[in-house]
Amino acid sequence: MKFLLLLAVGLDLAWAQQDQSQVPVQQGFSPDQVTGPWKTLSLASTNRSVIEEGGAYRCFMTGIVHLDNGNLNVTYFHRKDGKCVKEFFVAEKTDIPGRYTFEYQGQNYLTFVAVTKDYVIMDFENQWEGNTLIVVELHGRTLFSGKLGLPAYLKHTARRGIGAGNIEDVSLNSCNSS
Ligand SMILES: *[C@@H]1O[C@H](CO)[C@@H](O)[C@H](O)[C@H]1NC(C)=O
Ligand SMILES: *[C@@H]1O[C@H](CO)[C@@H](O)[C@H](O)[C@H]1NC(C)=O
Repeated sequence: MKFLLLLAVGLDLAWAQQDQSQVPVQQGFSPDQVTGPWKTLSLASTNRSVIEEGGAYRCFMTGIVHLDNGNLNVTYFHRKDGKCVKEFFVAEKTDIPGRYTFEYQGQNYLTFVAVTKDYVIMDFENQWEGNTLIVVELHGRTLFSGKLGLPAYLKHTARRGIGAGNIEDVSLNSCNSS
């Protein structure tokens, strides 16, 4: 009992670094709602260079698999040395459904802000060497269905202090051939 309590406190501390009022999680989140293929429509960040060509977060998510241990295997295409390569990261579940953590150029906190059958809005908060970087992404089951998420996406980017100049429509771009 004491151990469980301590474990819960530890996870809460990790999340305490993030202002959760700014990062609502989809109520009633279930991992099976986000599994399957996705198409990336838009990327936004507090630092524009990370979502521009060659940036660490210029990633085109192609699918999510729900692993047996409850974690998520997220696959995406990303340009590396001029070539498009397929990569993946494993998002580790926390005690809050819809919130995950993983290592990628520092510690990342991933929140599924909105999940519908048509689109997902994913919020990444990266902490590295004392700096905080925020990346918000809009993905659709198809290009068309993803557009239904635009109003909610723009509301969330505004809430995160990301202006229109730091939001890039990548729906016509892709990175899946070399
Ligand atoms: C933005 O990101 C680039 C690339 O990672 C980095 O060199 C630069 O220092 C960052 N700018 C700010 C203001 O953090
Ligand atoms: C995640 O998916 C990728 C590609 O689909 C695969 O190569 C990799 O082994 C998977 N990793 C885990 C931990 O399941």
